[in-house]
Amino acid sequence: MLGDKKVVFSGVQPSGNLTIGNYLGAIKNFSRFSEEYKTFYCVVDLHAITVRQVPAELRRRTYETLALYMACGLDEQKNTLFVQSHVPAHAELGWMLDCYTMFGELSRMTQFKDKSAKHSENINAGLFTYPTLMASDILLYQTDLVPVGIDQKQHLELARDIANRFNQVYGNTFAIPEGYIPQDTMKIMSLAEPTSKMSKSDTNQNAVVYILDSKDDIIRKFKKAVTDSEAEVRFSEEKPGVSNLITIYRAFTGKTVEEVEREFAGRGYGDFKLAVGEACADGLAAVRDEFARLMADKAHLEAVMKAGADEAAYYARKTMSKVRRKIGFVN
Ligand code: TRP
Repeated sequence: MLGDKKVVFSGVQPSGNLTIGNYLGAIKNFSRFSEEYKTFYCVVDLHAITVRQVPAELRRRTYETLALYMACGLDEQKNTLFVQSHVPAHAELGWMLDCYTMFGELSRMTQFKDKSAKHSENINAGLFTYPTLMASDILLYQTDLVPVGIDQKQHLELARDIANRFNQVYGNTFAIPEGYIPQDTMKIMSLAEPTSKMSKSDTNQNAVVYILDSKDDIIRKFKKAVTDSEAEVRFSEEKPGVSNLITIYRAFTGKTVEEVEREFAGRGYGDFKLAVGEACADGLAAVRDEFARLMADKAHLEAVMKAGADEAAYYARKTMSKVRRKIGFVN
């Protein structure tokens, strides 16, 4: 809580182009909290450098991620939009929380295991302590609710464990955050390998639909989507490809599974894939236009980040002075 409002915090990395998985699974849901909650949405550039980044690209993507937040409906007057490295308290609390996080806990994180397998040439300490920095992001603002995709559930549980541990030692210091993981569109899968998650870093460009893809690209990718050898649009665990397409279609049209199955009964996959592609492209058109408009005005984006960082730093300072006092640092 901050004042009389519950707090929402979430973060998106400025690495790679964002996919419809990021959009449907996370960002699209962010704006629903703006009225009732105090909301912080952060571009987590400190997290991005756990894997090697090209400096100019990291900088460009930081602007882009902010612009995308705004293009997806986050009004900068109603939400605190900022860049993680602009508020040094994130790194500072991250270090402190490292000292209340166990080696064994971090070793069990599946994202660490996956990423260290994928970047075996650069298994750095930051990749290992990534979840502690994420806990620091969340706990700095006395966050109550964290909207994230299902893949971040384990990290969120760790953040709760760290907060509880700290509170047990020092008395009540941090709010204990809950996850907000949308049930419907929890997980958007790869179009090429529908049993694995759609990932922005996938090297197969046909597997991934980016928020900023052109309409033609989107339709082409859906046409190539892997389905199965039946010809029945039906939601089922045995039909991961078709089920994934149904999920995406539902997310953009608001229809139920039954409605979608009825709509395409007796029609082939060709029709279905085209309809999904069109619904997706049309649903993203407004986002794409607004994004282009925002990216053309860097000065405005910089003003938004500056105001956001000032606002965030104000609240972060409050938590930090409490933490410093409890730990026993001299003021
Ligand atoms: N780890 C998150 C992801 O990769 C991004 C993130 C960083 C985050 N800090 C956060 C999400 C705090 C929610 C809250 O998606």
